Amino acid sequence: MVTLLAIESSCDETAASVCRDGIILSNIVSTQKIHEKYGGVVPELASRAHLQAIIPVVNEAVIAAGVELKDIDAFAFTQSPGLIGALLVGTEFAKSLALAFDKPLIAVHHMQAHVLANLIQSQSGETRIPSFPFLCLTVSGGHTQIVLCESPLQQKIIGQTLDDAAGEAFDKSAKILGLPYPGGPLIDKYAKQGIVKYTFPEPRIPGLNFSFSGLKTAFLYFTRDEKIKNEHFVEENLADICASIQSRIVSILLNKLKMASEQTGITEICIAGGVSANSGLRSSFEQMGKKEGWNTYIPKFEYCTDNAAMIAITAYYKYLDSRFEDYSVVPSARTA
Ligand code: KG4
Ligand code: ZN
Repeated sequence: MVTLLAIESSCDETAASVCRDGIILSNIVSTQKIHEKYGGVVPELASRAHLQAIIPVVNEAVIAAGVELKDIDAFAFTQSPGLIGALLVGTEFAKSLALAFDKPLIAVHHMQAHVLANLIQSQSGETRIPSFPFLCLTVSGGHTQIVLCESPLQQKIIGQTLDDAAGEAFDKSAKILGLPYPGGPLIDKYAKQGIVKYTFPEPRIPGLNFSFSGLKTAFLYFTRDEKIKNEHFVEENLADICASIQSRIVSILLNKLKMASEQTGITEICIAGGVSANSGLRSSFEQMGKKEGWNTYIPKFEYCTDNAAMIAITAYYKYLDSRFEDYSVVPSARTA
């Protein structure tokens, strides 16, 4: 029996999770509210908020799992990528626990973990999980990737964004509409009440790579021009504008995913990352899967946005492979 405690602190969520033999026993996430009024995550404030939240969040995860710290066999943390000050908090906290309890330390890559959220089983073991090899469209606030996953720890990026991430495309569009940060969930909410009425360009990027910066500019000019004609254009048409921009972001993502499946011949297909919480993406993905004959997988909602359960499941596979760190390990802001 292997019991692990994992900590996630790469951006604006302080999270901790306990997993036993690959089954998640607890998944606690504290989202930092402080950034809302700044229209984006302020790194310095994120580090401070992690310092304030980390002890209560870890305590809660341990209590909710019905274990004690002395029962933990290894301590895991998000090493990269992310905000360096934020990552340092989780890294040093995990190191201190490993030192205090004389247990191994496991470093986890946040993007790899988003992909492996698809391997999280429910306690009853009835969750369908993908078989290898599978493709995963990982869409978050900082990344947009198509990953070919051959085994839990063998992941290859076969396509990625050349500029903005899909989450940024959502958040920046929301900002143009005057919505608060993070705007992705709000666009999702309003889109449900609207219809696709406005068309935005689909970028012509060769291969499996993405680009969202042209779409952002087109959206900016579109709203500016419409507001010149009618200053209340955004308020009066918010739902339709949201449905239209969401539909274009989703089609850009899914067209490349389809191309990736055709190129690789792989039909086990997953999505992951914060943007995979988007209801438009989820339903269009399922529809495309039916049409193309894919087996589709989407993590449970709470495992899509940043969480520590995905760090715990990745740490579990690293534990099985004895991939441990010594105390000199440092976090890295970059993806490498
Ligand atoms: O994976 P994540 O929680 O954090 C990062 O690693 O970046 O992703 C955050 C991103 C944000 O851009 C947020 O707006 C977006 O995911 N997001 C959504 C939805 N929920 C979160 N975007 C569209 N629709 C949603 N429902
Ligand atoms: Zn993330």
